Amino acid sequence: MIIDWKKIAKEMYEKIKDEILITWKKLRLQAILVWNNSSSLRYISQKRKWAEYVWIDFKLEHLDESITEEALLGKIEEYNKDSNTTWILVQLPLPSHIDTKKVINLINPKKDVDWFHSENQWKILLWDDTWLFPCTPAWVMEIFNYLWLDLTWKLVTVIGRSNIVWKPLVAMLINSWATTICCNSKTKKIEEFTKISDIVICAAWSPGLLTLDMINSKTVVIDVWFTVVNDKIYWDVKFDEINNNWNMITPVPGWVWALTVANLMSNILKADRIQNEK
Ligand code: GUN
Repeated sequence: MIIDWKKIAKEMYEKIKDEILITWKKLRLQAILVWNNSSSLRYISQKRKWAEYVWIDFKLEHLDESITEEALLGKIEEYNKDSNTTWILVQLPLPSHIDTKKVINLINPKKDVDWFHSENQWKILLWDDTWLFPCTPAWVMEIFNYLWLDLTWKLVTVIGRSNIVWKPLVAMLINSWATTICCNSKTKKIEEFTKISDIVICAAWSPGLLTLDMINSKTVVIDVWFTVVNDKIYWDVKFDEINNNWNMITPVPGWVWALTVANLMSNILKADRIQNEK
């Protein structure tokens, strides 16, 4: 049974658009794309489409994949200094010759709409003045709100290891009183954890990791990501077999992806408001 986010995402976009149009202020998002893999290209085109829809000025600097780390860091410094560039986003992943951590941590944390800078991630862990959340973990938490799922007493297994989804999501779950089991794609007998869980969240970039026999009949399955190989999509969960059962499941990329992008636009709006208050 699919958790359909079409309506929610659409409502979010309409609300953001109305709020932006009322202020009549053109907010600008500067995106930087370095690695041209098909997933990042599709993702960036969604970001452009929806930014334009809600009247955000979307600027894309599409760099050559062979750019040196030094040159990329130089670009970030330029955008940090430019007062017209209020928000910066570097599309991940980056090519392997570039140190992602260095790049992300050079972005001025106040211009970091993804909320990936380690100073901002630290705020999530400490639950300390964190006024934004990374977009993907944010929509996962919204699903629980939408389903009226109180996370207190719930057993949640989160499979992954990434800094941009898994780690902030674990922090957000812990802070919401969920009993949280942290697994990764190498965890032994992972089914012993997933089978007893109320909720299983897959963010492992590991195609076909979760199968129907690894969950119980009531488990809510949140599939966060997928892998594209030769233009074919492979999910972390065996989507068809789980979807044909009674378990609730999220369809990616589809509208859930649109929801990630909606959260990005919402972050821009929130960040603008908060910066004006400060
Ligand atoms: N790559 C996959 N997800 C994201 C995201 O939320 N932000 C950025 N910048 N890159 C990504």
